Amino acid sequence: MKSLIRKLLFKNLDRQIFFGVSIRNGKIAETAYLKDGHRRIDVSERHNILCERPFCIAVWICGNDLDTIGKRKLELNILRDEKLVVSMTLTIIKKLEQPNGVILVLEIEKLRCHQISLLHQYLLINFFFSNKRHGYKETLIYGGLYSYPRRVIVTSFRNKEYYNIFPMDFQGEYPEINVYLLGLRVSNITVNEIIETKRVVVSSTEEIDSKTMYALGAHHSKTPPEIQSLPFRVSESELLKFPVPEFSSWYREIEITDHFKLGSHMMLVGRILNSKKMHDSRNSLYHIHFFEQLKSGYEIV
Ligand SMILES: Cc1cc2nc3c(=O)[nH]c(=O)nc-3n(C[C@H](O)[C@H](O)[C@H](O)COP(=O)(O)O)c2cc1C
Repeated sequence: MKSLIRKLLFKNLDRQIFFGVSIRNGKIAETAYLKDGHRRIDVSERHNILCERPFCIAVWICGNDLDTIGKRKLELNILRDEKLVVSMTLTIIKKLEQPNGVILVLEIEKLRCHQISLLHQYLLINFFFSNKRHGYKETLIYGGLYSYPRRVIVTSFRNKEYYNIFPMDFQGEYPEINVYLLGLRVSNITVNEIIETKRVVVSSTEEIDSKTMYALGAHHSKTPPEIQSLPFRVSESELLKFPVPEFSSWYREIEITDHFKLGSHMMLVGRILNSKKMHDSRNSLYHIHFFEQLKSGYEIV
């Protein structure tokens, strides 16, 4: 009986909330639309998560689309094959004016996942995905936000002898305005140094599996490991001389131009000083929630 219930709830997937998946050339099956009345704006490549408490996302809006964002409350829908996967209601809490547009910071108020039944969600969240850190609503919002695959990057920092290198997925690049946004936990031991020195480097993740990535994120609240003992080789970035994994196909050297404390996370606004391509980009590592992986079946790594 127990194994039948498990089979019904988990199908062929392991019992875990998030999966590291490999997506070739950024070909994401899901799309994200910001809705204002009947009009919808494709923000698939123009939005990212910033903060957990409260849950906030950033969206970059420009041109004619600026007319649609008169209201304080907006809707964001995630679709796969034109089928609704997630719907959420958001409130604008901040606007960062840019030369030909605006970066909106939106707080999530309500969210619904549609890919599996409410009962299925309830059973998974209450009996399998509950943890001390997050309540029911937070776990559900994670389910919704990570129904759109979130690209994992490696963030690195150096100041004389000190260095740190860790993964992030609250991040987004906006090439049209040369902006890079990062949502970094306020408790992160390097966040203040990054803000003070105004420097950080981010690099892509190709030849890395999620186990190595989790290990990289696990021990940094203490002292980072010796650079030689990392499970991959690193080289130095061109301008800042920060460590960059050799598996990365590209990196960006970034100057922090602004920062805002949103709650649990600091929103860092960066200007890209230098973009470097090291080799051809192939599959990248993304993070996806169980709810969506169950239906989308990306390649787990
Ligand atoms: C896949 C992955 C993605 C992560 N994304 C973020 C992120 O976007 N923001 C963040 O502050 N921490 C993120 N973390 C955690 C950091 O990598 C790092 O472990 C953490 O900031 C250490 O901070 P602490 O001092 O709070 O322990 C992520 C970890 C993993 C494994």
